[in-house]
Amino acid sequence: LTEAVEADGAPTAPHIELHCAPPGFAPTRIRIGVGVAESPSAFASLCAPTSVALVDGGALDERPDLAPLELPLHVVDGGEACKTIEHLERVLRVLATHGVTRDGVLCVVGGGAVGDLGGLAAALWLRGIAHVQVPTTLLAMIDSSVGGKTAIDLPEGKNLVGAFWPAREVYVDPGFLRTLPRREIRSGIGEALKIAIGLDAELFAAFEARVGQTDAGDVDPGEAATANALDPRLDAGWATTLVERCIRNKIDVVERDPTETGPRRLLNLGHTIGHALEAVSSYRRAHGIAVARGLFPIVRLARDRGLLAPDDAERITRLVRSCGFAEKNRPPFEDLEPFVRRDKKALAGGATLRAVLPTGIGSSEVVEVGLDELRAAYESSG
Ligand code: GLY
Repeated sequence: LTEAVEADGAPTAPHIELHCAPPGFAPTRIRIGVGVAESPSAFASLCAPTSVALVDGGALDERPDLAPLELPLHVVDGGEACKTIEHLERVLRVLATHGVTRDGVLCVVGGGAVGDLGGLAAALWLRGIAHVQVPTTLLAMIDSSVGGKTAIDLPEGKNLVGAFWPAREVYVDPGFLRTLPRREIRSGIGEALKIAIGLDAELFAAFEARVGQTDAGDVDPGEAATANALDPRLDAGWATTLVERCIRNKIDVVERDPTETGPRRLLNLGHTIGHALEAVSSYRRAHGIAVARGLFPIVRLARDRGLLAPDDAERITRLVRSCGFAEKNRPPFEDLEPFVRRDKKALAGGATLRAVLPTGIGSSEVVEVGLDELRAAYESSG
């Protein structure tokens, strides 16, 4: 097990090392590179004797070599359905059963949902132990494993119970993407588009260039060449660029605002409608796909308010469509409304919301919008 790690526990696979050090929180070291999580010892070496691993069953099916993690394993089926009080209790009781002490570590290997669940268990156990995150989906790599948001859901809505509790270490190994289903890839691409539109004009241009390579225009992503051009499973260089670029953006925002009282809100672009689309589908719609579909109404709203130039609105809408997120079978706004009202960003009992609107390519701002205004934008952006 040791040949894949150096004496200090660092993986020998070529990797980029980044740090996220938000004020008031312990810093996170992030290692990005194909193979950084190839040997479980790369991260197991960090773990103290009483440590435990929480592993996503889907990831374990694809990578049975994760099993000899040299830690007691608790396996949970990934996906939003694991973010419940019952699953949280089970993880906490596993920590209790193994007598995990304050110097113990919860090592979490899996997609974003398992990461959220494990992070929250680590935040709560003994009022907080360290966790190491090994994200195995694109979405978890580019977004949820960094920045310390941990949460479970309630029937009333998503992520309503949680804590800010950043991981001590994150091992981002794009090698995991090779076996990831297309739906999960699309979900990650949707989340990356959000970052490009709201924060990163260069990443936006990189997306346009890749889509443009196929000259596909508005295409059905199912079979389209566009889907291949964007698929990080087919191009390791693109996978690493995508992941690194998104993580760098995330670090920048989280270091300025770890607890989302200011600029971190910009990461919620597309989420007001996106979360509601997820919830109304009982979480069958993948998070990043819902977020991408939630972009259409807010682009419309930004344009109608005069915050976004019509040309930029058109460019954004075209790119999101070309990346495969054209609106299909949208539920009526009435179905979404109860979830929109209960959103964490809602104010005044849900009549007003804090929404993120794009103000250009790679820029965005938080504005208050009325529920009626959002409804009108949703209905006219279909
Ligand atoms: N996923 C949004 C955030 O971490 O703030």
